[in-house]
Amino acid sequence: MATPEKRAAQLREQIRYHNFRYYVLDDPQIPDAEYDRLMQELQALETEHPELVSPDSPTQRVGAEPLKVFGEVRHEVPMLSLDNAFSDEELASFDRRVRERLEVDSVEYTAEPKLDGLAVSLLYEDGQLVRAATRGDGATGENVTQNVRTIQSIPLRLLGNDHPHRLEVRGEVFISRDGFRRLNERALQQGQKIFANPRNAAAGSLRQLDPAVTAQRPLEIYCYGTGLVEGGELPGRHSEILQQLRDWGLRVYPGIERVMGLEGCVKYYRQLEKQRDQLAFDIDGVVFKVDRLDQRQQLGFVARAPRWAVARKFAAQEELTRVIDIDVQVGRTGAITPVARLEPVFVGGVTVTNATLHNEDEVRRKDVRVGDTVVVRRAGDVIPEIVSVVKERRSETCRSFVMPTQCPVCGSDIEKIEGEAVARCTGGLYCAAQRREAIKHFASRRAMDIEGLGDKLVDQLVDLKLVEDVADLYSLRPEILAGMERMGDKSAHKLIAALECSKETTLERFLYALGIREVGEATARTLAQEFGDLEVLMQASEADLEAIHDIGPVVARHIVNFFQQAHNREVIDKLLTAGVHWQAVTVSRHRPLEGHTYVITGTLSSMTRDQAKQGLQALGAKVSGSLSKKTSALVAGDNPGSKLDKAEKLQVPVLSEQDMIELLQQ
Ligand code: IVH
Repeated sequence: MATPEKRAAQLREQIRYHNFRYYVLDDPQIPDAEYDRLMQELQALETEHPELVSPDSPTQRVGAEPLKVFGEVRHEVPMLSLDNAFSDEELASFDRRVRERLEVDSVEYTAEPKLDGLAVSLLYEDGQLVRAATRGDGATGENVTQNVRTIQSIPLRLLGNDHPHRLEVRGEVFISRDGFRRLNERALQQGQKIFANPRNAAAGSLRQLDPAVTAQRPLEIYCYGTGLVEGGELPGRHSEILQQLRDWGLRVYPGIERVMGLEGCVKYYRQLEKQRDQLAFDIDGVVFKVDRLDQRQQLGFVARAPRWAVARKFAAQEELTRVIDIDVQVGRTGAITPVARLEPVFVGGVTVTNATLHNEDEVRRKDVRVGDTVVVRRAGDVIPEIVSVVKERRSETCRSFVMPTQCPVCGSDIEKIEGEAVARCTGGLYCAAQRREAIKHFASRRAMDIEGLGDKLVDQLVDLKLVEDVADLYSLRPEILAGMERMGDKSAHKLIAALECSKETTLERFLYALGIREVGEATARTLAQEFGDLEVLMQASEADLEAIHDIGPVVARHIVNFFQQAHNREVIDKLLTAGVHWQAVTVSRHRPLEGHTYVITGTLSSMTRDQAKQGLQALGAKVSGSLSKKTSALVAGDNPGSKLDKAEKLQVPVLSEQDMIELLQQ
């Protein structure tokens, strides 16, 4: 064991290095959670051994030296940091400390998201933006005025005329998830370095030497407070100040609330934690601030943070772990996906042991090797992925991944077509892995919707050769099913009933369920609407198919190929004989919304977003996930988020739910 003195020195050196990567290079090497742990360990050591605290310890200040290339700005009111609470208990002790110091029973807090971007300070003189600075080390920041002036949501001039003579507004500059995705897509196309996450993208964009580059980046701001106030007064509560900032035309997050006591804080926290994945931007926790400024005054500050605020952090979505092995998985269409097997790690609220590596190019690009220490990310329901490799921790024994030339499941050749990212097993339905996946797809909710036919059961049925193709499902007997692992009489009969029930379907579901390559739900719907009849579709030529709007040569080729295979025709026959049927489709030529594109956002009250989408599509419209100038209209439900702002900016018409219903009924 190192002595406390040695350990503190080690920690300081590591933290300094990581500060440099994070604040100066905008290229952190380790996840925030890991950084927090180093900092906490150092803080604990210093608390236990106060003689070890040195004035240059990273615990004694925030962030890192500003870059000299930008001019320096000395913050007249320092830009502080926030103390963290990683559990409800830590939050409760924060609230207790506040109450004890104020000698009150309950405190009013404002609750706001902790945005994951970078802090800036905007100086307004007589309502004009005269200077903008980054936080830097808290005392001195970088002058980024020219860059900040390119951010559309930052007013160059405040509304109204009752502003203090000098007013510093503080907020977080960030990039939305959508903006981040677009930015990285562009970077990939242009062969540039991609950003690890939206926060680095925001930091890297704001600290560009050329403002013209910053202007190209989708930076946004939410303001969350003030610094210097001279020649004028602000209201006596934080919540009122935020309202005042809004009135002056500054962008403040609309979901900020005033809450009562610890209970109110916990409730807000739980709510936001649930909504986290639906937000348009990354947040890493909730900030609680004492609302009354006189109470804040009474509480004051400790070294680098105020006593009147705390950041309750969410469970980390990024963690470090080690790659034990890299092997491959075979998908429904034979796609071979490299998968990293990981040392179990708790991230994003679950224990993760695998992470997809998408394809061979991705493995090369990220240069992931067996034995590497990697940053794993799991956000919401998204499958875990490897963000980056900590190259500094690579040992010489790390082994590179080699794409197999034979399918590990069926032994068929693996082929990789020039220009395609994906390698495929050529075994088709001979390959048990592809069969398995085809059956799971067939049974899935949006296909034939066979309830109770889970993945594990399909695996058993295929392994025991009880089901060789999807049609075999309909000849399963209850007594056979009852003998499977984790099945009993009751669940077997339930499954038989679900199978019976699934026989009544629609042509579009059926086509989707067949799992023809490149035929997703939208294409299946188009095919059903255009052909109306399975037999006619099966006879269609590539030219017939290509004549349809939305169907290109590749999809046409796959469809014709599929129906030419004798095996597929047999399976279809078997399915129809087993009693799978649907109502005849009347070929719809009524497509009044042909050529129009809609985007749906927020929560609808009378239907799900999916139902709305299907309704619009049935009338010929396209429904897209992202807004552009070409969007015909935005349908906005409750809590519409940033899309609404964007629509207004792009002058895209906005429809309410009721407007859309009327449109559908026309
Ligand atoms: S208030 C004295 N409010 O978190 C309090 N900060 O760890 C200063 N942040 O530098 C900050 N969202 O970059 C505040 N709603 C919010 C915030 C927020 C994100 C960032 C900010 C600050 C860091 C402190």
